[in-house]
Amino acid sequence: MTRTTRLGVIMNGVSGRMGYRQHLVRSILAIREEGGVLLSDGSRVMPDPVLVGRDEDKLRVLAERHGLEHWTTDLDAVLADPEYPLYADFLVTTKRVDAIRRAIAAGKDIYTEKPTAESFADALDLARRAREAGVKSGVVHDKLYLPGLQKLRRLIDSGFFGRILSVRGEFGYWVFEGDWQTAQRPSWNYRAEDGGGITSDMFAHWNYVIENLFGSISSVYARAVTHIPQRVDEHGVTYPATADDAAYAIFELANGAVVQLNSSWAVRVHRKELVEFQVDGTLGSAVVGLFGAEIQPRNATPKPVWNPDVPDPRDYLGDWHELPENDVFENGFKTQWEQFIRHVAEDAPYTFDLLAGARGVRLSEEGLRSSAEGRRVDLAPVTL
Ligand SMILES: NC(=O)c1ccc[n+]([C@@H]2O[C@H](COP(=O)([O-])OP(=O)(O)OC[C@H]3O[C@@H](n4cnc5c(N)ncnc54)[C@H](O)[C@@H]3O)[C@@H](O)[C@H]2O)c1
Repeated sequence: MTRTTRLGVIMNGVSGRMGYRQHLVRSILAIREEGGVLLSDGSRVMPDPVLVGRDEDKLRVLAERHGLEHWTTDLDAVLADPEYPLYADFLVTTKRVDAIRRAIAAGKDIYTEKPTAESFADALDLARRAREAGVKSGVVHDKLYLPGLQKLRRLIDSGFFGRILSVRGEFGYWVFEGDWQTAQRPSWNYRAEDGGGITSDMFAHWNYVIENLFGSISSVYARAVTHIPQRVDEHGVTYPATADDAAYAIFELANGAVVQLNSSWAVRVHRKELVEFQVDGTLGSAVVGLFGAEIQPRNATPKPVWNPDVPDPRDYLGDWHELPENDVFENGFKTQWEQFIRHVAEDAPYTFDLLAGARGVRLSEEGLRSSAEGRRVDLAPVTL
């Protein structure tokens, strides 16, 4: 008989887009259906969620839909309950710091969406409090688990690139203004006063993507802009879009590589996927997306000659080779949940903690500073 231990998980903000779809349905419920998370000694950990939110009816509907028994609107009560040692946060960003501080004070381990805070000072404060309280922490690093980025990881580990020289990336798509077609993202994302903005959203991702794949970031230059100044919200009300909806950035790495990333909710997609990175190295190059990955090694590189007088018949896109899958890639949110649960249950190594989250918030903050001041900002290592 396999031994199974219960792990009570407080899921706060579970009615939201991320909380419901990625964390409850695709992660915790999927793990439950598989019989829990397997530990190294062959035993299992079964997450047992309590759904937390502001609207009791919404929580009841969610719980009933998925056959769950526990929900509450009383966060403090459940924070005081030793049956639930893990607090998970999927709230809007503006509400996160206060909730996590309370959870740390209650001695809970913490798992949270990014960005961990609106300011670097708050993000660092959370990391410090977690360390002082001796609780474990995990911050969502989902983009690293995308199949395309896992294939990129494999290429890097195999030595395919030689020395990586540069990375150029495009992230984005058109987010409807909400006037004649409803917007496909929540309106708070477009209001700075509500924690919105593409720099605070995406640089929190770019920090961990860059530092885990290419190296630590030594400086940022960014230009953040609001291309669409007015949008229409979920209730049909027109509002001023006070947050940046595009950010054009150059990140320099300590190892000399240059990473240039465009992030935009005001761009029409002319690429294979919603995010794409081109990585150029001395021995080869790759273009990876959410799923796909194409490569061109040094010894299969064409030799173009610039001639504006003659149309060039060469199919440059045909010079790339699609990588095979070779693996089954699971939902990245679920994989990360499993790793964090192993970290909590058997102290398995885990580096994507609140300090890593704080580095992401710092990159957003310094990116916005760079934009406001029109200059490159150097980044010192972050310590507690
Ligand atoms: N990892 C990713 O790829 C990714 C993608 C999107 C969003 N996010 C992050 O996830 C978080 C949630 O984003 P979302 O898109 O799910 O937003 P959402 O608006 O769909 O959900 C927000 C949640 O917060 C709750 N909430 C809102 N206002 C509140 C208040 N005043 N008090 C208490 N609770 C409140 C809502 O009820 C809901 O449960 C954000 O921090 C966002 O940055 C991460």
